Amino acid sequence: EDGASLYRMCAGCHGADGSKLAMGVGEPIKGQSAEQLYKNMKGYLDGSFGGSKKSVMINIMKRLNDEQIKTLADHIAKF
Ligand code: HEM
Repeated sequence: EDGASLYRMCAGCHGADGSKLAMGVGEPIKGQSAEQLYKNMKGYLDGSFGGSKKSVMINIMKRLNDEQIKTLADHIAKF
């Protein structure tokens, strides 16, 4: 799976280029490094990261494996 096809499941909330503030909370994902994005996505899974709407992201991250999360982080960092 490539990053662009995986990102289709994110675009509705985060915007086609990651600049939208998803559900009005958190930080835009556009402009963040791959390392930061990966750390925050894994953080939803291990409980070390998240805000008031973290349950939304925890449920999405649970459906992805580590390789898919890495691919997404690399893809989003290039927006
Ligand atoms: C937060 C990635 C799908 C809603 C985040 C953050 C990342 C991220 C990296 C942390 C942003 C930050 O504060 O620095 C992704 C990826 C997705 C995805 C890669 C697809 C696989 C979605 C979808 C929704 C959504 C489909 C809406 C149903 C949110 C919300 C937050 C957030 C509400 C803030 C949650 C909180 O309070 O911590 N997302 N997202 N995301 N995302 Fe997503």
